[in-house]
Amino acid sequence: MCGIVGYIGHRDAAGLLLNGLRRLEYRGYDSAGIAVLNGGLKMFKQKGSVDELRRSLHDAGNPLNGATIGIGHTRWATHGDPSDRNAHPHVSSDGRIALIHNGIIENYPAIKKELISKGVHFSSDTDSEVLVHLIESIWSDNPGMALEAAVRSALYHVEGAYGLCVISEREPDSIVVARKGSPLVIGIGEGEYYIASDAAPIVEHTKKVVYLADGEMAVVTRNDGFAIKTIENIAREKHVSELEFELAEIEKGGFEHFMLKEIFEQPKVLQDVMRGRVRLDEGQVRLGGIEDYLDRLKLSSRVIICACGTSWHAGLIGEYLIEEFARIPVEVDYASEFRYRNPVITRDDVVIVISQSGETADTLAALRLAREKGALVMGICNVVGSTIARETLCGIYTHAGPEVGVASTKAFTAQVTVLYLLALTLGKGRTMSRNELKLYLKELNGIPEKVERILKQNDLILEIAKNYKDAGNFLYLGRGYNFPVALEGALKLKEISYIHAEGYPAAEMKHGPIALIDQDMPVIFIATRDNSYAKVLSNIEEVRSRKGKVIAIANHGDDEIGRLADHVIYIPPASAPVTPLLSVIPLQLLSYHIATLRGCNVDRPRNLAKSVTVE
Ligand code: M6R
Repeated sequence: MCGIVGYIGHRDAAGLLLNGLRRLEYRGYDSAGIAVLNGGLKMFKQKGSVDELRRSLHDAGNPLNGATIGIGHTRWATHGDPSDRNAHPHVSSDGRIALIHNGIIENYPAIKKELISKGVHFSSDTDSEVLVHLIESIWSDNPGMALEAAVRSALYHVEGAYGLCVISEREPDSIVVARKGSPLVIGIGEGEYYIASDAAPIVEHTKKVVYLADGEMAVVTRNDGFAIKTIENIAREKHVSELEFELAEIEKGGFEHFMLKEIFEQPKVLQDVMRGRVRLDEGQVRLGGIEDYLDRLKLSSRVIICACGTSWHAGLIGEYLIEEFARIPVEVDYASEFRYRNPVITRDDVVIVISQSGETADTLAALRLAREKGALVMGICNVVGSTIARETLCGIYTHAGPEVGVASTKAFTAQVTVLYLLALTLGKGRTMSRNELKLYLKELNGIPEKVERILKQNDLILEIAKNYKDAGNFLYLGRGYNFPVALEGALKLKEISYIHAEGYPAAEMKHGPIALIDQDMPVIFIATRDNSYAKVLSNIEEVRSRKGKVIAIANHGDDEIGRLADHVIYIPPASAPVTPLLSVIPLQLLSYHIATLRGCNVDRPRNLAKSVTVE
């Protein structure tokens, strides 16, 4: 949710931290702040973006420059409104300890009450501030204690989730970090160390990283490197991982927004998903991450897919694909519902969790519950080394590269492609011959080029968007494989343009939503030529006869639809199971253009964060 950075080394910390915060801003962007140690503790924080923080620091004469150790934070508000006082870092009453925190301290009211009774004054409305006062209180009762021990002792009192960094004047050469529920990575440079919520701020400095696991702490020091222990004080040996992406992948590369860049990356992403996995000539799919569990996967009595948001929409398409290709029954659940409804799970079930970030709190909790109940838990994740990727027994990476735009685009098509390959793999030898498999793979192999052709219509889609930028509502309708695409189109529009939008199965329209149709209601129909095409045409007629505006996504060569719809965006024909990979592209572009025409910040929509690591 929030973004955390830390630096200790020989270079100017403030500049590095500001740069790091900029790369993490997609995680939260309502306020930002930095604290450094340079003779004493110095801190600067305020409501607003990292750029605004940079400008304010500049106007103030860069008071934090010159330090070689510091921590920084960009916030997504949970407790307390976005404001200067609620921005992190939080500082102890004596001004000598600073702390940044990502997560939620659930029992903060009780801790706060106790601290207030001891005379502690609070300067913010956040849950996080209790931590710094608790550390100070423990430290003043035990003056000989190391900072690490004081933090550990404070964490014993805390319920909830945290990724945190603490610095203090009393130990000017170390940063103490801890993790439970909120991710943290340590980057290992030449005589310098970086700490961050994810690898984005680290990759330009070093590719060597260590991921902290839940329940681990580290003390990162200038001269002695870092030592990792559990919160219970047991030493841990950690494996140093190599980052697999380049800096260029997290830069805009000439596009106005990350979202647009990521939409346009999709032909390449889809090829990357298939690379090394698909052998067209032999009709083979090789998914290394699940190979050892393939027999058990094929024998499962049921597949349950758990995810949130866009990943959940991909999961719905996965349901259609796995049932069609492998004939295994599939259920798709919101991870947030699954985790609390005491679901029936048996050892014969396979639970697939899907997550771009690999850090979504609800999805992670669903995974842990399924694992506890003995199901085989498999992950489909984009972020390599993420918590979900590490905690699942087996899995498939989507290889979409870093997705920075808060609205998920390329991660979605990569997830659908992975699910397609998985469904074929499960179906092979069960319900599907090698020749059938070859045909399906061939079809998939042609998709990147078809996506490329749709992207060429970007200018046309912009023109269509101009007609609808002031609409107050939208309906998205589709059937079969295009029903989840309708949901995804509606989510994309609402999250970045703030226009109310709903997705429905087209046939459901007459059971209620039709009451909404009038001349002010644009309706997007995904009307590709599949077995429900004729029925969708009837739905279009129903909307037209109530004066609704119709935008249709249809196949090239479909002249009939041109007569019925106000606007048509044509996509190349394809069989139904691969159609979502095509039909979603115009919807992504339409949302993007409507949002930018309305002056919205598409990469950082209000109230949202890229990675939802709190409930
Ligand atoms: O990282 P995840 O895939 O687990 O994230 C799930 C949702 O939070 C995410 O898809 C969200 O709905 C996006 N903003 C959609 O664009």
